[in-house]
Amino acid sequence: MLFDTFSLRAINLSNRAVMSPLTRSRAVENNTPNGLMATYYSQRASAGLIITEGTSPSPNGLGYARIPGLFNDAHVQGWKLVTDAVHAKGGKIVVQLMHTGRVSHLANLPTGAEVLGPSSDTCPGEMWTDSQGSQLHTPPREMTEADIAAAIHEFATAARLAIDAGFDGIELHAANGYLLEQFLNANINHRTDGYGGTPEERNRLVLEVVRATAKEIGAERVGIRLSPYGVFNATGPSADVDEQYVTLVKELSAFGLMYVHILDHSAIGAPPVPAKLKADLRVAFSGAFILAGGFDKDSAEQALIEGHSDLIAMGRAFLANPDLIDRMRQNEALNSPDPSTFYTPGPQGYTDYPALAG
Ligand SMILES: Cc1cc2nc3c(=O)[nH]c(=O)nc-3n(C[C@H](O)[C@H](O)[C@H](O)COP(=O)(O)O)c2cc1C
Repeated sequence: MLFDTFSLRAINLSNRAVMSPLTRSRAVENNTPNGLMATYYSQRASAGLIITEGTSPSPNGLGYARIPGLFNDAHVQGWKLVTDAVHAKGGKIVVQLMHTGRVSHLANLPTGAEVLGPSSDTCPGEMWTDSQGSQLHTPPREMTEADIAAAIHEFATAARLAIDAGFDGIELHAANGYLLEQFLNANINHRTDGYGGTPEERNRLVLEVVRATAKEIGAERVGIRLSPYGVFNATGPSADVDEQYVTLVKELSAFGLMYVHILDHSAIGAPPVPAKLKADLRVAFSGAFILAGGFDKDSAEQALIEGHSDLIAMGRAFLANPDLIDRMRQNEALNSPDPSTFYTPGPQGYTDYPALAG
């Protein structure tokens, strides 16, 4: 099944293995994609679908060093290099729109940008900055309703620019503790206005971003990534999470989105997303379903055969194996990823993972 084709709304995929979004921090000049990034993605074009690394729709969302943006013409031209290179090899590619919100440091942001969050609590822990080394996160400013409206507009504009740049669609990053999950999560969102308080109010920003981006480029080109039960960036458990996400996904279904993508972090130490919740979310969503987190060829085949998902996303395996599809088809051994080069500039540990000979 893994090597079967799949129609993802308007996009015809050559197989059901999706490359998970992977931040690689190679956008060294002004957060602008470049030829090296085009090489990296085109090496991996045999994936059924590539989801790019998290890409900010706003200067305020560029919280990590050297992550790409998608809010000006240079970004569009840079991403065109990538989409052209992937399409030339017959691949399909969507851009993951990631606003980092409070997971940020001012030193990583361009002049004039700000660290924003649903509430004023600082994200615990440190992050890397190129100019000052490892630093505590910058305290965020609590967003006003005008800030929220501006952020929604930025997502919609980025969706339009994504199509201009040649992407097949977008994925909204509402997982892993970035801005959209900061609003979803009861431990981070302490608002008492219409964007926080009840589960429905915490879901509101995500739904408004979905509505705005779908209006801009069509719901069939908008997917979304969610990570209930994630612990990354101080999200953590909350009491009514199952009901909140089932409600959310039912509403996403009504929009007719391209896909819902559920990430289970249990392979890296978070509590597992309960099988019942995954099944309930699959039922709640009438479109395509993607599962991610800790899959290999055999477990991916099994999940597809058992009907748990339509597509399976893999991260570290694609990172280290440009020809992962060939290797899985031929039952060849995989290269191991090297975490020391995950986020370092340059080709080492990026475009130099070997493909099979011949
Ligand atoms: C180096 C690295 C960067 C990542 N960057 C992102 C990202 O930008 N957006 C995202 O949603 N997930 C990101 N993730 C999570 C992956 O998409 C994936 O879900 C995770 O690695 C678990 O899947 P795997 O076991 O197949 O690797 C990242 C993971 C790694 C290892």
